[in-house]
Order: sequence, then C-alpha cells, then structure tokens
Amino acid sequence: PQADGGNDKKEQRLIVVSNRLPVTISKDANGEYHFKMSSGGLVSALSGCKKTMSFTWIGWPGKDIPLADRDHVNKRLLAEYNCYPVYLSDELADRHYNGFSNSILWPLFHYHPGEMNFDAAHWLAYREANMRFAEVVSNFCQSGDMVWVQDYHLMLLPMLLRSMISGESAQGEMVRKELGRVKEGVDDEVVKDVLGMQPGVAQSGELDDEGVEILDDVDEGEVLHMKDKPAGAGSRRPHFPRGLSTFQKQEMVAKEKGKDGIRIGFFLHTPFPSSEIYRVLPVRREILLGVLQCDLIGFHTYDYARHFLSSCTRILGLQTQPNGIEFEGRYAQVGTYPIGIEPMQFVEGLQKEKVQSRLKALETRFQGCKVIIGVDRLDYIKGIPQKLHALEVFLTQHPEWIGKVVLVQLAIPSRQDVEEYQNLRACVNELVGRINGRFGTVEFMPIHYLHKSVPFEELTAMYALADACLVTSTRDGMNLVAYEYISSQSKRHGSMVLSEFAGAAQSLNGSILINPWDVQSTADAIHQALEMGPEQRKSNWQKLFNYVSKYTAEAWGTTFVNELTRLSGLPPAGPAG
Ligand code: ADP
Ligand code: G6P
Repeated sequence: PQADGGNDKKEQRLIVVSNRLPVTISKDANGEYHFKMSSGGLVSALSGCKKTMSFTWIGWPGKDIPLADRDHVNKRLLAEYNCYPVYLSDELADRHYNGFSNSILWPLFHYHPGEMNFDAAHWLAYREANMRFAEVVSNFCQSGDMVWVQDYHLMLLPMLLRSMISGESAQGEMVRKELGRVKEGVDDEVVKDVLGMQPGVAQSGELDDEGVEILDDVDEGEVLHMKDKPAGAGSRRPHFPRGLSTFQKQEMVAKEKGKDGIRIGFFLHTPFPSSEIYRVLPVRREILLGVLQCDLIGFHTYDYARHFLSSCTRILGLQTQPNGIEFEGRYAQVGTYPIGIEPMQFVEGLQKEKVQSRLKALETRFQGCKVIIGVDRLDYIKGIPQKLHALEVFLTQHPEWIGKVVLVQLAIPSRQDVEEYQNLRACVNELVGRINGRFGTVEFMPIHYLHKSVPFEELTAMYALADACLVTSTRDGMNLVAYEYISSQSKRHGSMVLSEFAGAAQSLNGSILINPWDVQSTADAIHQALEMGPEQRKSNWQKLFNYVSKYTAEAWGTTFVNELTRLSGLPPAGPAG
C-alpha cells in the first residue's frame, strides 16, 4: 500500500544504513574539518537509485568528533553528502566493531568458530549500538520510506527499528530477557560501562506516544527502548480488532505515528554459514529474529540464502519457502543478489597519463619476469599463508621459474586491534621472510610484500601489469578484487586463479578454480596460469569481462531496491544496469 496517503507526487525516500558512513572525516592542525567521500562498492551501487529517489545514508562517522564540533559536522554531512551520523562512545564503538562484529560474527560467518571469542559484554554492546542506530533511523524515517540495512554489524537493527516505529514486537521482549540472561554472566562494572556510557539508555520512553503500551514500573537499570512491555500497572494498549496478525497491529500503531508502510531490506555482504556452524553462536536465535522483521533479505549466493533459511527452520522451528519465510504475519522474502563493481572506473582509469607512465615504469622494472598479483585486506579469511605455501611448493617443483616470476602481494592493514589479525600479521611476515630467504638472491626476490593501502592509480597499474591474479580466500562473501583485476586486463588477458570458497567463484566462469587448502593443486594452478597460451587466456578473459560488465554494482543496487519497492507496491526505481 502507498504509505503517504496516496500522494503520488511525493518522492520515494531511500535510507541506507551501514556501520561506517561512506565519508572519512578528519581534522587538521588548524582545527578545520575535511570530508572525503569514499569510492567503494556500495557508493557506486547506489548511484542508480540516487537518480530516481531522495537518498540519505545513516552510519557511524568515526571516533574523535568532540561534542562541541558535532553541530558543524552534522550540518556539513547532511548538506554536502546526504549523510546522517550515529554517534557512539569510543568504548561502545570498540566493543561493537572489534568485539562482537569482528571477533564473533566475522569468524563464525567465515567458518572459523575456533577464532570466535564469545563475550557477553560484547553482545550487550552490539545490541546497544544497534539500538542507537534504531533510535536515529526511527526518528528520521516517515511513512512510505525504504530502509536498507547493510551487513553483519547491524543484524538486530530491523527488529529494533520495527519495534520502535510500531511498538509491537514479541522479539523485543525476548531480547530484553536475553539481555537479563547475559547480564548475569557479566561483571557489573562492565554492564555499567557498556550500558551506562550513553545518556539515552532510558530515554526511548519519549518515543512512546499514541496508543503504545507504556510501562512506568520498570526496574532501574533495565533498558527501556522497547515499546512492547508486558501489560501491567500503568500500561495502556491500543484497541485492536480481533484476529489481526502482529504485522497488522504493528502497522496500525505505526500509522498513528505517521510511520507506517516502511519497508526494510537487509543485505549480508559476508557468507551466511551452514546451520551446523551457525548454531554454535550463543545468541543464534536473537540474530535470526533480528533480521526476520525485514521485507527483503539478500545474500550474494544461493547457498548463503539456503543456509539462512535452514537455520531459521532448525533454530527457530519456522517453516520456510524457497524464496522466503512467513513470520508474525509478514513475509520476509529471501533472495540472491550478487554484487559487482563499476568496471569502467578501471577501464577508464587505465587510460590516465599517470597510470600509463607508472605501468611503463613497472614493465621496465619487471622485464623478463612474469608477475602474479595478490590484493587483500590482511585478514585470516583471505588465505594469504596458503597462497605463500603454494608459491613455495611451485618454486620448489619448478626451479626453472626461479628468477622468472614474482608475487606482488598488497596487504591492506585491517582491524589491527583484534588479536587474530595481529597473529596473522606476524605469521605472514615470517612466511615472506622465509620464502624470500630461501629463493631470493641479491638481484631477485620472489615475493614483493607491501603492508599498506596503495593509491588507486598504483593499484590499477599493478592490476594491468600482472600476468595472473591469485585469490586464495578460505571463505569470502564475494571478493571484488577478482572483478577489479579482470576489468584491468583488456590488453594482457591475464589468468584469474580463484578460490572456490569465494562467492565470486559462483559467477566468474573462465577462472581457474582452486581449493586453497590443497597446496599442491594451487601450485599446479599457478603453473597452469603462467603457461596458458594467449588464445585460451583471451577467450577466458572475454567470458569473465562480459559477466563483470553486465553484473555491475549499480545493477546490483538497483535490482535490490526495485525488488524492495515492488514489495511495498510503489513504482520501481528505474532500469537496472
Ligand atoms: P573485502 O570486502 O573483504 O575487503 P573485497 O575483495 O571484496 O574484500 O574488496 C577489497 C577492496 O579493497 C577492493 O576494492 C580492493 O581494491 C581494496 N584493496 C585491497 N587491498 C588494497 C591495498 N593494499 N591498497 C588499496 N586497496 C586495496
Ligand atoms: C567486508 C565487510 C564490510 C567491511 C569491509 C572492510 O567487505 O563485509 O562491511 O566494511 O569488509 O572492513 P572494515 O572492518 O575495514 O570496515
């Protein structure tokens, strides 16, 4: 139903919510603020939707923005970038991002349960940070809006948001109980730190108006954000006609608040693991319930969607359909939407004078030598040690290639406050040193290892230079590096060696697929990639490039938003692609 009282002329509003805002904010020595828009995948993905919709991005603006400067920062963010900030205290942000998101969900979703450090205080913080997001989004949104929540940092947000805008959700009650349960296992001081850090803990009663139950006898210290307190002394509830589903009741209450017809989408950029892995998570029910209040839930691959649905069946006992799940009278549609990149950024970037001259310099430097490129965040899911082991085996078995091939491995520093990432860094340093020590000479080093982010021009020149690209992720939601390499190879037609455990392997037909745990077959694939004839390389590349050009980031964003629009009964956002 159209939620704005039938006013066709009203522009459709799209609110995108992600943990990070797509703008990097810094302050110089003179106290002046600088804003830099990032050019990442999501930003490109939404360019299609922006043409036809009014668009706002809500997210965390980063640390170190003092209270006194926030008015200024907020105004500029909104006026210049359509961004709206959610401020979190440093400690809350740290426990939410490093703690729950990257020490619990990230390893589990990438099949590393051994790296998962479940800590109840991190769960409290995750829940609290999601709550802060929900408060900001619920204040911002109005009838008929579409809210698109991104990724594993915000999996409780759909439920909390629904609960805040409508005041009716059994799940709110359930999460509150869970909060009580985990509180018992956590040091009181930690609870006070995590929950007491922000002044809004008991504030959300303010949002309680027209027709929403209000409890005025809640224990001190209890989190009061939920609008679905059990009926009791001092509570009032709206008079619902008999037989309404929870969804219909939610919509009734939301309508009184001018917030009905809000459609919520969620997209997971990581894998969703098999239910056998997922069920290890102590708060497995809460996370599933957190996203089930969506109208549309998207994954990169069919397997991730299937794992999600079977987790809902096995953990929540819900019946599912191949394309979704009915829950509390609402149908949460579940679908597959593989993301892409904007290949023209690389094709055109390559034409730039600066990139061409850098490419020439690199070609001279590596004359007579083949180049394999690896580009990864320094993350244990990227299989960098496996890649290095495979190179070692390859050079051992094919000594004729020593001095004739180099691996340029760019490793972008990532999540350096998390212990597993520190351990990985030490492990990679050690391996690179050992392999270079073994095969290197004064004139030649087989591995060129850079632990830093490199500028776009340098990255494009490196991609164009390389005869092969090696992606060895042990799990990866999609892996866009493979797409970027293919887009930069219109001249050389280099070989793409790709892990079968990356989401991209489902789409990039024309790659040499490997199991990165099988060191011998990866070493063989390196050999195959280097020895492949030009005709075979060209025909592989053509297939790959056709795919990458068709399934772009913009096509992804537009397809998802169109589907969400369709579910709301509103007109589509515009053609995909
Ligand atoms: P993830 O999302 O897990 O980081 P992707 O492969 O999907 O993995 O995306 C990685 C992005 O980070 C790509 O756009 C890639 O160009 C960029 N990137 C990775 N390493 C570097 C580096 N050393 N310097 C600059 N950019 C990098
Ligand atoms: C993955 C996640 C993203 C995240 C990115 C970089 O792609 O799915 O949500 O933004 O990695 O990680 P970072 O922790 O630096 O944001």
